Amino acid sequence: MSVKKAILPVAGFGTRLLPASKSIPKEMITVVDRPAIDYVVQEAVEAGIDTIVLVNHPAKQAIENYFDRNAELESLLEKKNKTQLLDEIRSIVPAHVTVVAVRQSAPLGLGHAVLCAEKVIGDAPFAVLLPDVLVDSQTENNLTQMIAQFAANECSQIMVEDVAPERVDQYGIVKLSEENGVQSNQIVELVEKPAVGQAPSTLAVVGRYVFTPQIFKYLKETTTDKSGEIQLTDAMAKLLNEQKIQSFTLQGDTFDCGSKIGYLKAVAHYALQRDELKDTFRAYLKSIL
Ligand code: G1P
Repeated sequence: MSVKKAILPVAGFGTRLLPASKSIPKEMITVVDRPAIDYVVQEAVEAGIDTIVLVNHPAKQAIENYFDRNAELESLLEKKNKTQLLDEIRSIVPAHVTVVAVRQSAPLGLGHAVLCAEKVIGDAPFAVLLPDVLVDSQTENNLTQMIAQFAANECSQIMVEDVAPERVDQYGIVKLSEENGVQSNQIVELVEKPAVGQAPSTLAVVGRYVFTPQIFKYLKETTTDKSGEIQLTDAMAKLLNEQKIQSFTLQGDTFDCGSKIGYLKAVAHYALQRDELKDTFRAYLKSIL
């Protein structure tokens, strides 16, 4: 079963990045010279995804426009012979990739956002990438590896990362099965944002998922929780009664661009990878520290 479609839920208001996110979608805030969401789309495309489904809000059309052609800008760049820039903006979405958008009709949380894309996904496996989280894989693209693990074991995959015990209340937390003291990658329990001290482990769900289409059935059965949201984690916990779900341990770095410190770290991290910037930027950082 190859995984070709991915859902990117982008309808959230991004209250953690106010006031900037009042008029700029948080996904469009720049990391070096590209909007944060561009990194996530490139990651998906690199992993073989050819259909990106944005689950969007009417006020955040800037995201859709970014992935659309801009004929006026293209002809201006053509006239001015700015071929490199022209190539750059034309390759934001490679020719074999389609970006479509559906709307999330009500602010009912991540689970509801995923369900909004059901008609576009159909009866096929799919990935979910949370656009707040940038993943810089250490070796092979982690999503590529998750998709390979999905194909080999025919069950859903969830990326996890160990977090400090005092941060468990910010994440979905998974518990893995253990035999004779050895942990496997089979998930046995999932809980959304448990209170500190009450989590079954410190393994946090960090925003990359590969699902069998059966998850939709459980999303439809899931009701809103005390925060008024339909949680993807709750639907996954139900799916666990029917199918196996495996964890995939992050190999690399994640940056939570929905938070100020995560965003600042992402800018520094990606700037230091750029040939044209890294020496001057490193020297500058040294001079101010
Ligand atoms: C969402 C999910 C949570 C996950 C987190 C990762 O929460 O509900 O399970 O651990 O993303 O970033 P949010 O950060 O949207 O509150």
